[in-house]
Amino acid sequence: MLRTHTCGELNMKNVGEKTTLSGWVQKSRDLGGMTFIDLRDRYGITQLVFNLETDKELCMKARKLGREFVIQAMGVVEERSNKNLKMPTGEIEIAVTDFKILNESKTPPFTIEDESDGGDELRMKYRYLDLRRNPLRRNLELRHRMSIETRKYMDSQRFLEIETPYLIKSTPEGARDFVVPSRMNKNQFYALPQSPQTFKQLLMVAGYDRYYQLVKCFRDEDLRADRQPEFTQIDCEMAFVEQEDILNTFEGLARHLFKEIKGIDVAEFPRMTYADAMKNYGIDKPDLRFEMKFVELNDVAKNKGFQVFDDSELIVGICAKKCAEYTRKQLDALIDFVKKPQIGAKGLVYVKCNDDGTFKSSVDKFFDQEALKTWAKKMNAKTGDLLLVLSGETERVQKQLGELRIEMANQLGLKDPNNFKPLWVVDFPLLEWDEESGRFHAMHHPFTSPKKEDIELLSTDPGKVRANAYDMVINGVEIGGGSIRIFNKDLQKKMFKILGFTDEDAQAQFGFLMNAFEFGAPPHGGVAFGFDRWVALFGGSDSIRDYIAFPKNNAGRDQMIDSPSQISQVQLDELSLKLIKD
Ligand code: AMO
Repeated sequence: MLRTHTCGELNMKNVGEKTTLSGWVQKSRDLGGMTFIDLRDRYGITQLVFNLETDKELCMKARKLGREFVIQAMGVVEERSNKNLKMPTGEIEIAVTDFKILNESKTPPFTIEDESDGGDELRMKYRYLDLRRNPLRRNLELRHRMSIETRKYMDSQRFLEIETPYLIKSTPEGARDFVVPSRMNKNQFYALPQSPQTFKQLLMVAGYDRYYQLVKCFRDEDLRADRQPEFTQIDCEMAFVEQEDILNTFEGLARHLFKEIKGIDVAEFPRMTYADAMKNYGIDKPDLRFEMKFVELNDVAKNKGFQVFDDSELIVGICAKKCAEYTRKQLDALIDFVKKPQIGAKGLVYVKCNDDGTFKSSVDKFFDQEALKTWAKKMNAKTGDLLLVLSGETERVQKQLGELRIEMANQLGLKDPNNFKPLWVVDFPLLEWDEESGRFHAMHHPFTSPKKEDIELLSTDPGKVRANAYDMVINGVEIGGGSIRIFNKDLQKKMFKILGFTDEDAQAQFGFLMNAFEFGAPPHGGVAFGFDRWVALFGGSDSIRDYIAFPKNNAGRDQMIDSPSQISQVQLDELSLKLIKD
């Protein structure tokens, strides 16, 4: 090997030992007759020292080394006179007796430091240089440890890791497929899996009972901080189970990861129905690190002569602690926030609970002090608090207030990344109405089973049917979701019908699954976790990009390899593809 030690391990115990280190020149400084070089590898930084007096030739050669040159240095470990106790290797240095340049380097386009001076684009283009920086190295190490601990836990629960194919036929998870043309089957295409959903169900039919896989999934959808076109799932399926068994098994996985990775013991996860999540937090993935639970004000604020409220289905508010001192400017900013087209509220009513026990509101004309006092009491407000109230059509206003609640948490710094509040959201609706296409869509996916007690409603009021579907939510992030599946051919057929498939379409797309259901399919269910999201969450970030070695940018491009790109005419011809000129 080209080294005897790494750059992170030598300390006072090694003083006097000979060593050979290999790594990158982080920086060098000349001080009088001495030259110091910080040598870096994955494990740390060790200081090399060259003495002009004792070995002029070597020292002069060292002074010519540029940043990021790769060198191999031989020398002796010595105690430093000027110690840096912040670094594990800060008490020693290497008195170099000889070194070799293993490779030169151009000057990097940005600094390889914890805080780099390079912009996003540049760092993406030179990702391999960005990955040399400590923060990214730490992220990938975290990812590695989480994958190892996941595998340990799954193995301890007797799950088998089984690979499923990447060249498949489209799976309906709601996003667009990435497709791959087939050379051998003219005019035909594979699709890359949005998830291994149908395959894991077939593995249950095959009797494998407990399956999991850390697996790449591909979705052609609009990208955001928590979405990449290719991402990794911890994908899981179990046979002979009910919802409760799945929740317990995977709460176990979460507890194992919290303990092993973060050193945290978490209590039992609370369960919240989808209906309660929407009613109390206006979102199906509530962040429980902070309160600001919704309080309905219909009985104290409706029919009191304020037209806006009187015409509303729901009047609902949150209490922002200690915000009564918000200035006119801050309040206007909140009003602008709720009026943004993405949020879509018409306006915002506020009530300041002043220190002297009086109230100042934006609706003083319609509500006197006594009336505002009843609101404050209902909302459990204290003097110094600020009430923020929205009104309108129920579903819409809940979502709007949900956004405002998160905005207030941002403003008040309530999103402590080291505080973790996991929960299960359960009883999702089976279907959701899509205005555009004028029909129902599966809220999770078409293989999700309705709750037994709601099956009757399938024929009469499908929108009301609840599913055996659940999400694991941590700090407002949907970490994972799954469901108990339909395993009966007739029910699956009925489901496809409700979703607008003709019998022929359903047979053509999912015949393989429905046929399998005729050969002894066991009751089964599963879940899939967004692995990138989970790692980012444990790393304390909202963005998954820096937890993936080679991610894509928001336009879905890999700027380093410059992809997607055109292919040659020969390739096009082989695939029987023609380019369209615009
Ligand atoms: P679902 O579509 O909810 O379920 O996906 C499971 C989890 O995957 C993560 N996720 C993503 N992460 C990064 N980038 C994306 N584009 C992206 N899309 C989803 C989320 C999500 O909770 N087959 C079902 C699971 C099942 O029923 O067992 C499925 O894929 O964290």
